[in-house]
Amino acid sequence: MSHRIAVIPGDGVGKEVVPEGLKVVAALGLPLEFEEFPWGSEFYARTGGMMPEDGLATLAGFDAIYLGAIGWPTVPDHVSLWGCLLPIRKTFEQYVNVRPVRLLPGTRGPLAGRGPGDVDMLFIRENTEGEYSGTGGRVHTGTEAEVAVEVPVFTRRAIERCARFAFERARERRSRLVSVTKSNASRYAYVLWDEVVAGLARAYADVQVERVHVDAMAARMVLRPDTIDVVVASNLFADILTDLGAALQGSLGLAASANLSVEGRGPSMFEPVHGSAPDIAGQGRANPIGAVWSAALMLRHLGHGAQADRVERAIDAVCEDGGVLTGDLGGAASTADVGDALVRALQPVGD
Ligand code: IPM
Ligand code: MN
Repeated sequence: MSHRIAVIPGDGVGKEVVPEGLKVVAALGLPLEFEEFPWGSEFYARTGGMMPEDGLATLAGFDAIYLGAIGWPTVPDHVSLWGCLLPIRKTFEQYVNVRPVRLLPGTRGPLAGRGPGDVDMLFIRENTEGEYSGTGGRVHTGTEAEVAVEVPVFTRRAIERCARFAFERARERRSRLVSVTKSNASRYAYVLWDEVVAGLARAYADVQVERVHVDAMAARMVLRPDTIDVVVASNLFADILTDLGAALQGSLGLAASANLSVEGRGPSMFEPVHGSAPDIAGQGRANPIGAVWSAALMLRHLGHGAQADRVERAIDAVCEDGGVLTGDLGGAASTADVGDALVRALQPVGD
């Protein structure tokens, strides 16, 4: 069955890494159709919107969205993100954001004495609410009396569906789940979070659940990464911890993500975690591996599991070989060189 994929390269290095993801996918010869949309900060400069008014309605007709990065110094971040990325996550109920954190063979993370066997985590990020709810307002703007209120919203429904997804993934892996919380300082939201997770834990008696406060979790990821398998966390906590995870992998350029519309109320969206990287944009130096890995997550979601495995094995092989890597991993290759090396590294396999 053919799938239609909306491609939004977006801003900065998004425009450089997305073509490499498409290059690798094209080499697989799958029945996929791509349509590209020039949305992002340049589109904003021309039209006053990050995407057209009917942008979400357009995306709704696709099977998946492949996105590069949104955000550029010419547009305030809260305008660009609330004009494109965050409405996509919310509208299509992409209620979990799946982020693998795996130290790849051959690459050196910053932790002394740790190898690929020690760093292999799967983050399940709540992706629709919490500190990203957009609830609040400002009054007395510009005066001494100015007040800004931002109210994180946590609902039983959203916590439950996200945690359930995490328990299921834990079952497929090592049956260990860390639930990240801050219920020692939070009086309501993370207390509810803990209660919902504890309630589900009774139904998943085979999964060992640990409740870890977010501050302790940051330390644990550095000091004892080998004790962490699947992690479930709120929107903001997982945002922060997955950047730490990317650092443990050795580069933000490697980190991949899948915003999943688990019940299929709309297309899911696949994007590297690194963002638009204005400091290196336009130079052909960005690492495309996070984008290519995200494309692999998309293939798996669309039912092409064997081809996804094939792409992930090519990523492992290119890293292990070490001859063609971008500067962030100590190499001198260009973005396109790494894309070409990944295509060459694809091993034959039936799907
Ligand atoms: C991410 C990014 C986004 C987020 C920003 C750009 C809004 O940091 O996907 O991790 O915080 O979710
Ligand atoms: Mn982030």
